[in-house]
Amino acid sequence: MSTPQGPTLRELAVQALSSTMRGYDLLAPKFDLTPYRTPDRVLEAAADALRPLGPFGRGLDLCCGTGAGTGVLRGLCRERVTGVDFSAGMLGVARATAGTARGPAVDWVRADARALPFTGAFDLAVSFGAFGHFLPAERPGLFDQVYAALRPGGLFAFPVGAPPAVGSRAYWSLLGFDLAMRARNALRRPPFVMYYRTFPLAGVVDDLVGAGFGVRLLPLEEFGRRPDGSPRARLVVAARG
Ligand SMILES: C[S@@+](CC[C@H](N)C(=O)[O-])C[C@H]1O[C@@H](n2cnc3c(N)ncnc32)[C@H](O)[C@@H]1O
Repeated sequence: MSTPQGPTLRELAVQALSSTMRGYDLLAPKFDLTPYRTPDRVLEAAADALRPLGPFGRGLDLCCGTGAGTGVLRGLCRERVTGVDFSAGMLGVARATAGTARGPAVDWVRADARALPFTGAFDLAVSFGAFGHFLPAERPGLFDQVYAALRPGGLFAFPVGAPPAVGSRAYWSLLGFDLAMRARNALRRPPFVMYYRTFPLAGVVDDLVGAGFGVRLLPLEEFGRRPDGSPRARLVVAARG
């Protein structure tokens, strides 16, 4: 839930009727008051899982928004950190709020993740909370971009939650959201691309392997296990060969 200071329903509706980029420009000033910013608990779990795989040199936060993952990188990387996002509004908030945090300097770069302006530049790339903005057909190209942005041996890491049990309340609410978004996008241009059910772990791993990555899945035990014993959340760690 948003806090009382967060965006109103009307503001969220206007955002959802804009393009993805414009929607985030509009939401940016209040984004950190919404549940869409990745919670600290997830960021800390990812940082704890990545720390033993370091130390890292340069870091990239893909679709950085207001800088949630950039903070993780500043704790893990010894050299410069880059946050990349296509929303000037989100980058503006990130720039304004990151100044005093400890760690290496951050460069904020406005670019589309599907056409990254980097080659062989980073030792660790992370991304939080943004893959719902890419259609499944865009995934292979997106992963190619990250592969090219990494140095040989570099890692691309991101958390993935287990899907809710079929028939549960969360299952129906995510399904309902995605169906409403499909209806909205069938009726109105430009689209606002945001789907919850388009990033299945098996398909994601296949596409990472197709891009040339070697993939490991690290359970994030902080989030517990499902009744079948599988982790509720995993960190996908993809290594560039
Ligand atoms: C839900 S926010 C997540 C922000 C941040 N990573 C976090 O965890 O709080 C998604 C972000 O992805 C960015 N984004 C979506 N599609 C993008 C694209 N094609 N290229 C770059 N940024 C994109 C949006 O502008 C937005 O800042």
